[in-house]
Amino acid sequence: MTGAEQTKTRPGTNGQDSSMLSAPSPTGPVDPPSTAARSGRRHVLDMDDFSREEILGVFQNADAMTEVLNRDIKKVPTLRGKTVVTLFYEASTRTRVSFEQAGKVLSADVINVSASSSSANKGESLYNTALTLQAMNADIIVIRHGHSGAPHFLARHLDSCVINAGDGTHAHPTQALLDLYTIHNHLGDIDGIKVAIVGDALYSRVARSNLWGLTTMGAQVTLCAPPTLMPVDFLDGRRSEEGHPFASVRVESNVERAIEDADVVMVLRLQLERQHAGHLPTLREYSRMYGINERRLVLAKPGALVMHPGPMNEGVEIDPEVAHGARSVIEEQVSNGVAIRMALLYGMATPARQNAATRGG
Ligand code: CP
Repeated sequence: MTGAEQTKTRPGTNGQDSSMLSAPSPTGPVDPPSTAARSGRRHVLDMDDFSREEILGVFQNADAMTEVLNRDIKKVPTLRGKTVVTLFYEASTRTRVSFEQAGKVLSADVINVSASSSSANKGESLYNTALTLQAMNADIIVIRHGHSGAPHFLARHLDSCVINAGDGTHAHPTQALLDLYTIHNHLGDIDGIKVAIVGDALYSRVARSNLWGLTTMGAQVTLCAPPTLMPVDFLDGRRSEEGHPFASVRVESNVERAIEDADVVMVLRLQLERQHAGHLPTLREYSRMYGINERRLVLAKPGALVMHPGPMNEGVEIDPEVAHGARSVIEEQVSNGVAIRMALLYGMATPARQNAATRGG
């Protein structure tokens, strides 16, 4: 099922939701504002099945969740009785912690499993680990894995809802949604704005998900990387084939040309291990050719936003003065990550087994 096919219902408008949303509290309002709506989405695996309308719906729910996060008592009972498991096979700070915070603010039981301290360390397969978690009534499994496609594998085999928290070089949809939300909060309608994505596009799941999200929202995207770090389908003629989703994306190997007149400069983390794979001469050379510094940033529009998904290599892909300067919204991206992940958990919170008949999408 695609996002476009999924229907939205207002909380409290069906019997199933209203019990979770109407608990009284002596301390004041406890529910997300009534502007929040169920998405009916079962899995979040990639950005390629999010329509513009669904993305705007996530923004609307994230606004409601931001209101909850700004309250003195940051707690609503919405997901009481639900279990969210974060299953991380790769390191993470922002994504894992924000999912944990999102689940806890919504009153879900949140269980964190890291591969290094689980039975995966004894050779247990991903499938058996996931079945074990499902047998413990995990409603939503949030997975980060080094192999592209691991979240799709779980979604095919489990009744639990699955959220992709980053898989290999493939996708990081919740990062893209929080990036889009941050842009939307500053610049309003994303349609027509100029976004330069600069860095290691070849290995970046953040870049891939943002390409889907930004083009769906109508942004004019320029992708800038050294030719050795540009995906091959952006270098050959494949994008000119009819119906190619990224036909409108401009490819640029010169960083000055890429960021000229940009509304947003999105810097990608240089994966340092790439240097040893022969993609780069030296980090100093990369920094000199592609690093975003104040001298380059004057080429962008006045007030252009500087973004980075983190973690940053300061002094390599981005100078500290830019990373912590007036145009940087990098910390805001992190804060918005909690609201976006709350919005997604909220939208998916129908009991997993009731959804079993609609597996997919
Ligand atoms: N942006 C991002 O995914 O950061 P973490 O690796 O810290 O989760």
